Amino acid sequence: MKGLSERVTRLKPSATVAVNAKALELRRRGVDVIAMTAGEPDFDTPEHIKEAARRALAEGKTKYTPPAGIPELREALAEKFRRENGLEVSPEETMVTVGGKAALYNIFQALIDPGDEVILIAPYWVTYPAQIELAGGVPVVVPTAPEAGFIPDPDAVRAKVTPRTKALVVNSPNNPTGAVYPREVLEALARLAMERGFYLISDEIYEHLIYEGTHFSPGQLAPEHTITVNGAAKAFAMTGWRVGYAAGPKAVIQAAIKVQGQITTHATSIAQWATLEALTNPATQAFIQRARETFRARRELIVEGLNRLGFPTPKPQGAFYVMADVSRIDLDEVKAAERLLEAARVAVVPGTDFAAPRHVRFSYATSTENIQAALERLEALG
Ligand SMILES: Cc1ncc(COP(=O)(O)O)c(C=O)c1O
Repeated sequence: MKGLSERVTRLKPSATVAVNAKALELRRRGVDVIAMTAGEPDFDTPEHIKEAARRALAEGKTKYTPPAGIPELREALAEKFRRENGLEVSPEETMVTVGGKAALYNIFQALIDPGDEVILIAPYWVTYPAQIELAGGVPVVVPTAPEAGFIPDPDAVRAKVTPRTKALVVNSPNNPTGAVYPREVLEALARLAMERGFYLISDEIYEHLIYEGTHFSPGQLAPEHTITVNGAAKAFAMTGWRVGYAAGPKAVIQAAIKVQGQITTHATSIAQWATLEALTNPATQAFIQRARETFRARRELIVEGLNRLGFPTPKPQGAFYVMADVSRIDLDEVKAAERLLEAARVAVVPGTDFAAPRHVRFSYATSTENIQAALERLEALG
């Protein structure tokens, strides 16, 4: 019997899945575990968005759509990028995908040749290196320090550029650190991409969850070099709907659509109509505002609590995650996460796969009561 491909054998399963499985197993045995692992808002999708999906269903909008997405949604995306991100893109320079994850996959497949290097800023979202390697690329990692709030130094990024550098991935607000990169840093990285002729892939999926400062899209400065990736999941509490989108130079977007056409074909028709409603109905803005205020209050609670209990973490300005240093429990973050789960019944994701040794990621996309209870359990741990 012949074996599995080398490619898939090398592929790492998601770190979150492993810890979730353990937490679920404990729950099954009747242990009450507080899960702080979620990468999704704990709110329901707003009613006006659900209603648009029901309408699409009732109207029989259940057939194949063009691979790049329904024209109405691509037009709304071009308008959204202009209004919210200062990007001048036409509908043909946008694409709708099966989640932000598939947008990234299609783009990496469209850009990377075997041996091409893609620079990642650590700690990074675990999916980037996995998808880069699936495309035959080589992730090149630039570390950041908690003392610098996990903000990258553009000179350190410059030092990693080689003739094989094809792209740099930037994710601000950041998963897993919650860091929001200052505009000057993003501008410096965009200038570097222009100067050295590589692509900047800007993952802006948490753009609306910023508690201090404002969001800046580097594509404003380097439109020929930047592919901006985003999605409906985090902004509109639509994780399960699987809608992502991207904008960028026409040749890259067309190539990514060609990839999509041979894989998923397109995002689900009904979910595309729902996303159109999310982007165009002003009620969505009120929802985002409320979500942001809720997350902001939870952030205060968890950051203060973790620092007080000896798990240092810089105060993040965005997203709904904090990276805490757990080395006082164990220098090995996997062992520390296990101890937190077994002794305190709090589930977190070890930093290993995010390239964040000695750290674990807490998600505060859970109720204030859960955060308070989790902090009490950590305190009882001593
Ligand atoms: C940084 C980042 N980018 C992209 C995504 C993709 O989300 P989705 O595929 O659900 O749209 C996620 C989800 O966790 C994320 O954290």
